[in-house]
Amino acid sequence: MGQNSSQGGKMTTPVRVIVIGAGNRGDNYSHYASIHPERVKVVGVADPRKFARTKLQQQHKVVDENIFEDWPSVIEREKFADAVLICTPDRLHKEPAVAFAQKGYHILLEKPMATTAEDCRAIVEACTQSGVILSVGHVLRYDPLIHMIKELIDAGVIGDVMHIQHFEPVGFYHFAHSFVRGNWRNEAESSFSLLAKSCHDIDLIHHWAGARRCLKVSSFGSVSHFRKKHKPTGAGDRCLDCAIEKDCPYSARKIYLDRVKQGHTGWPVSVICQSSDPDIESVTKALKTGPYGRCVYECDNDVCSNQVVNMEFEGGLTAAFSMVAFTEEICNRKTTIYGSKVGVCRGETTTPT
Ligand SMILES: NC(=O)c1ccc[n+]([C@@H]2O[C@H](COP(=O)([O-])OP(=O)(O)OC[C@H]3O[C@@H](n4cnc5c(N)ncnc54)[C@H](O)[C@@H]3O)[C@@H](O)[C@H]2O)c1
Repeated sequence: MGQNSSQGGKMTTPVRVIVIGAGNRGDNYSHYASIHPERVKVVGVADPRKFARTKLQQQHKVVDENIFEDWPSVIEREKFADAVLICTPDRLHKEPAVAFAQKGYHILLEKPMATTAEDCRAIVEACTQSGVILSVGHVLRYDPLIHMIKELIDAGVIGDVMHIQHFEPVGFYHFAHSFVRGNWRNEAESSFSLLAKSCHDIDLIHHWAGARRCLKVSSFGSVSHFRKKHKPTGAGDRCLDCAIEKDCPYSARKIYLDRVKQGHTGWPVSVICQSSDPDIESVTKALKTGPYGRCVYECDNDVCSNQVVNMEFEGGLTAAFSMVAFTEEICNRKTTIYGSKVGVCRGETTTPT
């Protein structure tokens, strides 16, 4: 990357990055710079939320002049880093990706790459024309188990791959948090849940299928449970005022308030307050007034809570994928791959993506 060089596999100059979107993912990725300062240095941050950009500014000692309220302000400046980490909401990926590519920045772009195929093509074209590296945040590709499955397949250990069965248990409170009350609940504001949540999984099935093209797809899903008609009798509109909240698995009191009382301030608690240091008071306020305190049967959600995808690839390889919200396990994916040698590759990943 540009002027960054490596000697014997070791970076001699850290890659200078600007974090575009200092929310949950921007924070996660830039944490790598704290662990490996010899490899990565955060030299700029852009985010409209003051508390979010200030947190990263302080953590990485970024000079004031490199702190921005939005991504276009970074574009207006002369290029001052090697790469950008684009961690903005789903519908705000294409514009910054194209603009930063044209400016000559290498890019780590969060998944989903974009919400339409047309926008994905525009991003690829801009990166190709500028000759910059584009990497999309399909982080599961780097999971050791996923990698091992691919190595075993490529080494022919199970013969030709005949069938891939892959299951993603999203987790009941994870689903309620992100896809009923939270940022990915509504397709018009973000994207459909198969793209928002399971693009990792569809990507993995393609990864394991290798060079074979997918020829046929069928898919069905539904917004099965989280609807007004399933609201239990006697339930309130907000969990903190609800008479039957104690018996509800989706109780916001249990998901957020009980956690913060036990000293847990990480995800999902960290996401719901407009502060970098959530406490009982700020979490209570968020549940009384904000989206995360709403009854799960009274939200403006429209994304599927369970979906199946069947795929047929060249050569007859078939794949079956299921995504289900109503599980105790969170993202503990299960995969079984059947091969012509009557061999089986089996794996369980615990990466929470
Ligand atoms: N790779 C994964 O496994 C994974 C996991 C979760 C989320 N994601 C994806 O990462 C992206 C970010 O998700 P998140 O959970 O961090 O969301 P988030 O809401 O916590 O963070 C997004 C940040 O972007 C900022 N932002 C909005 N407009 C901006 C602008 N004009 N300029 C600069 N910043 C702006 C917001 O203020 C916010 O802080 C999403 O596309 C999401 O789908 C990927």
